[in-house]
Amino acid sequence: MTSLFNSSSLIGPPLRLNLKAQATRGNPYCMITVTMQLRSTERQLGSALALCILALIPWGIPRARALDNGLAMTPTMGWLHWERFMCNLDCREEPDSCISEQLFMQMADLMVSDGWKDAGYEYLCIDDCWMAPQRDSEGRLQADPHRFPGGIPRLANYVHSKGLKLGIYADVGNNTCAGFPGSFGYYDIDAQTFADWGVDLLKFDGCHCDSIQLLADGYKYMSSALNKTGRSIVYSCEWPLYMLPLQQPNYEEIRQYCNHWRSFADIYDSWQSVKNILDWTSSQQDRIVHVAGPGGWNDPDMLVIGNFGLSWDQQVTQMALWAIMAAPLLMSNDLRSISPQAKALLQHKDVIAINQDPLGKQGYQLRKAGNFEVWERPLAGLAWAIAVTNRQEIGGPLSYTISIVSLGRGVACNPACHITQLLPVKRELGFHEWTSELKIRINPTGTVLLRVEKRSHTSKTLL
Ligand code: GLA
Repeated sequence: MTSLFNSSSLIGPPLRLNLKAQATRGNPYCMITVTMQLRSTERQLGSALALCILALIPWGIPRARALDNGLAMTPTMGWLHWERFMCNLDCREEPDSCISEQLFMQMADLMVSDGWKDAGYEYLCIDDCWMAPQRDSEGRLQADPHRFPGGIPRLANYVHSKGLKLGIYADVGNNTCAGFPGSFGYYDIDAQTFADWGVDLLKFDGCHCDSIQLLADGYKYMSSALNKTGRSIVYSCEWPLYMLPLQQPNYEEIRQYCNHWRSFADIYDSWQSVKNILDWTSSQQDRIVHVAGPGGWNDPDMLVIGNFGLSWDQQVTQMALWAIMAAPLLMSNDLRSISPQAKALLQHKDVIAINQDPLGKQGYQLRKAGNFEVWERPLAGLAWAIAVTNRQEIGGPLSYTISIVSLGRGVACNPACHITQLLPVKRELGFHEWTSELKIRINPTGTVLLRVEKRSHTSKTLL
């Protein structure tokens, strides 16, 4: 039940409450179970006790050193062609959806005219299939001359003239995943070529590499080759994804070389694919969450919002959870035909603010309760984001009761907080005391995303 903050309730009749502050499954920061019997007159003592307990808990594992290129201090935001346009080379039959200069110029125009840039989506990124099948006579990669008649430099100029940044794709091995020339043996030349062209981000794939050692060495080498060019180039890796089948990745080490890194399979335009990514992330959170931070992020792959495979509620779930996971927000959709509803979701300022929160801590799954999953993310200014997903795929909306004391390691609402629902629709949910409960309703496969702001007992102002 919603309990509006009311100072007189602090001195009401004695009331016996069972408070269970649980940081359960996979909260990497704190593994405690506190069960307390409180009277309302004992609440202040309870608060003090909880703070004492929390003071004894390691507040966070220190983050590993990040790649020192000053980039990706918040998760990268932009557009990436792969999931929506894949490797469409047929510009005769499908001039509007083949991988061509025209596609990227149109997207650049729309990123500016339709508010994407203003919302924070800055990087316009080319994925696989931009290259000509052969390197040039000096060993440099070249764009397909028919599909990119002005080459990458002209496209980069165009993108820059719009105030955007350009991303490109290459591969650490002998060939890209789609069979175009790989960078193995050409790391320095390719890094310099990208810098000369004015590229601002490199997605470096891991197909067709002969050994795990060459894979690791190649990712490291390319990191320093990019650095040596002197140009600021965000380095987006897939190193752990290709390592995982053979060896547990060392994420602390990867963070020293990459600005973000994919660990899990390619996203598809389907609910099953989004669920697989979420389930993998929660199952691995003890390994990956503490590694993320300014300069280096876990990358659960592209946003597929605005395409064909996700229902409205599932799109809400992707947006909410990508914000909780501090994920790079790289949309792969068609900005020329996106629905106003999907656009509003992708441009939701408050949700983007959670994704881009300056504290830079990735969220985690706090608990699974039947078909409900509760996730939380610490934010700057002692605020928290809370996401509750209804994973039941039969029936209608279900109610879930949040025990306020369980949020934010027991302190998000101590002694009180103000809660705003951001998704699926924005609603002020008012003031809540530490000991109260909040009942929400969630559609099947949907998510309710909340922002919790701490308030002091007496002043009702931000602490
Ligand atoms: C791999 C990557 C994808 C995409 C394709 C391109 O599968 O994981 O994101 O870049 O290659 O071929």
